[in-house]
Amino acid sequence: MPFLQKSAIAFLSLFALLAIITTSDAKEGKCEKTGSKNLQVRTKAKSKPDAKLVKRGSSLYLAYQCAACHRLNGKGPEDGVPLDGIGSRRDAKFIKEQLKNPEEHVKKHPEAYQGDPNMMPNPDLSAEEINAICSYLLTLKEHKKEK
Ligand code: HEC
Repeated sequence: MPFLQKSAIAFLSLFALLAIITTSDAKEGKCEKTGSKNLQVRTKAKSKPDAKLVKRGSSLYLAYQCAACHRLNGKGPEDGVPLDGIGSRRDAKFIKEQLKNPEEHVKKHPEAYQGDPNMMPNPDLSAEEINAICSYLLTLKEHKKEK
């Protein structure tokens, strides 16, 4: 094949390749947009907890004296288990199980408590109270000064 013909073919294939890349890029861009839109919807739903339920949970937390053993915002016993930002470490199912039956839950998750035995008394909460307290706990922000 003469050199000129060869380079013409090479040039044309390069052109075709470029065309493919550009079109697929455009498609990807479109896909990303819808993806982030979905993400926005999801975050919105998650960041809108039921205000009434959270308030009830907060009063129950005080009424049941959870603060006697737990630390929040640097307040509470020095060696208290901190609950700040618990939502980033534990999910609702995990928290609810702990509130329902600490003894059983700690046995089930030795890795979460360094193999320590359970120290939390069973608070004897109703399912409705557990749900409210859990909603409240999931709104707690990380405490910046500690740690
Ligand atoms: C007598 C002390 C004590 C009281 C009172 C107490 N807790 Fe606990 N809590 C603990 C200890 C200790 C742990 C660590 C795991 C264990 O030993 O059960 C814990 C663990 C937890 C956890 C899991 C934390 C994690 O990161 O895994 C949650 C949630 C929790 N408690 C919520 C509550 C709530 C809500 C109340 C009030 C209804 C309460 N606790 C009352 C001592 C207490």
